[in-house]
Amino acid sequence: MKLWGGRFTKAEDKLMEQFNSSLTEDMVLVDEDIQGSIAHAEMLVHCKILTREDGEEIIRGLYSIWNEIRSGKLKIEGDHEDIHSFVEATLTARIGEAGKKLHTSRSRNDQVATDLKLYAKKQAKSVIDCLQALKNSLKEKALENNNVIMPGYTHLQRAQVVTFGYHLRAYIEMFSRDEQRLKHTIEILNENPLGSGALAGTTHDIDRDITTKKLRFHKPTANFMDGVSDRDFIIELLSDFSIIMMHLSRLSEELILWSSQEFSFIKIDDAYATGSSIMPQKKNPDAAELIRGKTGKIYGALISTLTTMKGLPLSYNKDMQEVKLPMFQAVDEVLLSLQIMDKMIATLQVNGDEMKKAIKAGFLNATEVADYLVKKGVPFRDAHGIVGAIVLYCEEKGNSIEDLTLEELTSFSEFITEDIYDYVNYSSLLNRGNKKEMIE
Ligand code: ARG
Repeated sequence: MKLWGGRFTKAEDKLMEQFNSSLTEDMVLVDEDIQGSIAHAEMLVHCKILTREDGEEIIRGLYSIWNEIRSGKLKIEGDHEDIHSFVEATLTARIGEAGKKLHTSRSRNDQVATDLKLYAKKQAKSVIDCLQALKNSLKEKALENNNVIMPGYTHLQRAQVVTFGYHLRAYIEMFSRDEQRLKHTIEILNENPLGSGALAGTTHDIDRDITTKKLRFHKPTANFMDGVSDRDFIIELLSDFSIIMMHLSRLSEELILWSSQEFSFIKIDDAYATGSSIMPQKKNPDAAELIRGKTGKIYGALISTLTTMKGLPLSYNKDMQEVKLPMFQAVDEVLLSLQIMDKMIATLQVNGDEMKKAIKAGFLNATEVADYLVKKGVPFRDAHGIVGAIVLYCEEKGNSIEDLTLEELTSFSEFITEDIYDYVNYSSLLNRGNKKEMIE
């Protein structure tokens, strides 16, 4: 069923019809499409472009379609070009003449832009909710492990003592910025394209403030051509998603490493791991690996959308139909990834003893020994050299710095005295300087 055809003398090729149709993918826009149509019809009645009777019939018809779709009674299917065509054709089949008036002073071009913005806003809010839930789980796990010391790494080499709680809190900061980015995206996409028409407005005296208010946008888009042309908000959303996935992927990588026998720092709950079909002993961190893997897909969606939009002349071009599916898929994957990560964090077990062992074997108080010498008046660069020599000595002896005798230690510097042992104790060193922030 087509919304056009008057100027055509030949039927559309079947293959072309399939090629052109986006119905199976854009059916996820059905709520937004019907909401937009209801707001549009109400506005047309208010502006006396539609009679009250026609308007009421249209709105009743739209609600009945909406309810039946929700209950599963009405299936979104058939040879319709897209969700907009499906809704209009179904409406007209139900209510007759009045249905044909709904599209007055509207184009699918401003309609699809409106649907997409409403969808983007809704999904950005769902992602924010999932981010907040994940942040809460991280906060709880961090609190439980506030005093569990672990090696902090640079270059994946043991570097200095941190706590497991503090490590998790680093991710809370990242996810908080992700949340802010999404809020900003919502803020600037909050302009209503409806009323832009195909690209050049309409000769009807419509009132765009009415649809703007009804659809909860902040204001109408200022330029009709911009209103129907741009998909920058999708690119922005996908770029927010890409950053979220990059953060999730780093956390996933750490969970994978930490749960390996080489680290044994944590145990991932059985509910988020799988086994091997051949190796009976295996427990694989699939959930974390899948999140890491899906990150590539989200980057792909971003690059594909940027590439589709590149070089398109104003205003609407059918190329733009292609930016929808990558976004819909990205939304699903990001929401799922955040929820799975949330559950994985909430259920993971921490092995503080293994973390402590790794600290001891890694000279993780070497920097603090240098700090100690500085406090005793040794210039930092000299202190660095002295401690380097101590580490070398320890490596040869297979010993840790804190296990050396005072005699051994003073042979490297006369400034070292008995109080060194307390100063470089792994737990108490977190009570000094701004390190205190780590355990507050
Ligand atoms: N299915 C189209 C899309 O998703 C809707 C807009 C179609 N406009 C048009 N002039 N053919 O982009």
